[in-house]
Amino acid sequence: MLRTDVIQKIIDKKKATRYLEIGVNNGDSFFPIEIAHKVGVDPSFAFSPERKLEWAAKNPCNVTADYIDATSDAFFAKQPIEKFDVAFIDGLHTYEQSLQDVLNTLDNLNENGVIVMHDCKPPHVPAALAAPSLQAAIDMDVPGWDGIWCGDVWKTICHLRSTRKDLRVFTLDCDFGLGIVMKGKSDIDLNLTKEALDQMTYADVENSDYSPLNLKNENYLFEFLETI
Ligand SMILES: C[S@@+](CC[C@H](N)C(=O)[O-])C[C@H]1O[C@@H](n2cnc3c(N)ncnc32)[C@H](O)[C@@H]1O
Repeated sequence: MLRTDVIQKIIDKKKATRYLEIGVNNGDSFFPIEIAHKVGVDPSFAFSPERKLEWAAKNPCNVTADYIDATSDAFFAKQPIEKFDVAFIDGLHTYEQSLQDVLNTLDNLNENGVIVMHDCKPPHVPAALAAPSLQAAIDMDVPGWDGIWCGDVWKTICHLRSTRKDLRVFTLDCDFGLGIVMKGKSDIDLNLTKEALDQMTYADVENSDYSPLNLKNENYLFEFLETI
């Protein structure tokens, strides 16, 4: 299942009206989403005016969408901002920034709102390279790396599961791992210390049958949808 299918199914089930996407790039995930109001945040949008027009014709929700040319931190710093029902976090692929994005989004999420995070289950260890930016990852020139960069966003899932017992957190096994975060109680506990998480590598996750990510088959989405 693709990220857009998962996001749209959550929106439809919740009859959600307000969507936030952090990290839009060329709009592959943003443009197809159908919802009354959507906001995209990116310091470096990567679509042409023609592509924007094309998508406005294909999906009228894009006509009224807001495009915020800023980093997520700058966006959240400008309070007050509207509350969202569903958010997709796919900005800078670092543990620190993705965690900050989740925490800021939680502060601006409606009750029972749902956060979807991209890149929580990298396809292989080189894709999980911890780097401060995509360019830095490229510059590291790691042997065997195929250009897919999920970074260490996976650590945010482990962090939230270990420190935020007020959150329901799991990862759907599709599209590079879709982390789902919402208020509620998780089904399985994780209790990693900060030191343990700092030392943990993605190879450790792969060797542990992915339980640190609370990994679920993609069809678990339908079970989840019945609960929201
Ligand atoms: C992987 S792309 C997003 C892809 C898009 N969501 C999709 O699924 O097609 C990541 C985007 O995050 C943006 N980005 C990088 N740092 C960011 C930040 N601090 N805040 C918001 N967006 C950021 C980049 O400019 C880039 O366009």
